[in-house]
Amino acid sequence: MDRGPAERQQPDRQPADKESAMNHPLAKDRVVVVTGAGRGLGRAHALAFARAGARVLVNDLGVALDGGDGGETPAAQVAGEIRAAGGEAAVSTDDVADTTGAANLVHTALERWGRLDTLVNNAGFLRDRMLVNLDEDDWDAVVRVHLRGHFLPMRQAAAHWRAETKAGRRPEAARIVNTSSGAGLLGAVGQGSYAASKAGIAALTLVAAEEFAPYGVQVNALAPAARTRMTERVFAETMAAPADDGSFDAMAPENVSPLVVYLGSPASHGITGRVFEAEGGRITVMDGWRRAATTDKAARWDPAELDAPLRALLSKSPDPEPVYGARPPE
Ligand SMILES: NC(=O)c1ccc[n+]([C@@H]2O[C@H](COP(=O)([O-])OP(=O)(O)OC[C@H]3O[C@@H](n4cnc5c(N)ncnc54)[C@H](O)[C@@H]3O)[C@@H](O)[C@H]2O)c1
Repeated sequence: MDRGPAERQQPDRQPADKESAMNHPLAKDRVVVVTGAGRGLGRAHALAFARAGARVLVNDLGVALDGGDGGETPAAQVAGEIRAAGGEAAVSTDDVADTTGAANLVHTALERWGRLDTLVNNAGFLRDRMLVNLDEDDWDAVVRVHLRGHFLPMRQAAAHWRAETKAGRRPEAARIVNTSSGAGLLGAVGQGSYAASKAGIAALTLVAAEEFAPYGVQVNALAPAARTRMTERVFAETMAAPADDGSFDAMAPENVSPLVVYLGSPASHGITGRVFEAEGGRITVMDGWRRAATTDKAARWDPAELDAPLRALLSKSPDPEPVYGARPPE
């Protein structure tokens, strides 16, 4: 790939034998924080940003699939992979849903590299249960990691970008990429806490995109689908890797990362407050809640008179997309 004149003039910071892994300049010299980057999608995003020239703070608490003690330090492993490929990385083992942990994320990036360009909120875990069996503590843990785990790092990053703006250094291309889910956008049987959290992240993305715009920040979200420990057992068939015949491994998490790098780079200028579904080579704009058929009596309705007008409205409105895992209609 042609790197462009400005870049060609500069001596390459990478050793020649590592260059091929670092030849994509979309995020060149940007400072990127990726949460939950020790495994799965976050790991793929961190490596992709590093390949695109970014300096990456690899965050991961190293928890088990249900958020319990994982006894691992996957963030250090991923940072090691980035460095081994000639890139720059630092490690954070902070809990993204903790006030101090979220503050540490931003402080670590600023202390290490003096700037912050992109925040990718990706960390999370599941505790799937049917609602009737859903334990309150499990509900709280899932809502906490996803909603607080998006809100707190966003607030911290936005406070930095607002301070920069007030000091006359409004960021040119600050970016936040959040992680929602098809479960949150369409609903998913057995995933009440997770779906509610991920729907909340979609709404939070819309609000943040508006509120942070004055500081030069764009905020988007994705609803990914990929083979990770989160999905490889539950959706074993859909997520399976192809036979070793060179065909496209559609469910590899690495397929989602190019969109994240793009949304996290200056190239995505003007795109904000949007939600994209990403799976394999497919990218879909998810069209959110919008008003369909409407009626106005210009007075208060009596409950008993609502049946016919309500059914008429529904007949004139599009059917909702099916909820994931819903029983087929009889
Ligand atoms: N895999 C999919 O198909 C899919 C689909 C929709 C949404 N998602 C979302 O994508 C994101 C990544 O999921 P994944 O599939 O890669 O799962 P994963 O379990 O492989 O990775 C998630 C990582 O987040 C880390 N983590 C959990 N809680 C944390 C905390 N409090 N602080 C810091 N790190 C923490 C875990 O240690 C883990 O390494 C999640 O938000 C998930 O809900 C995934």
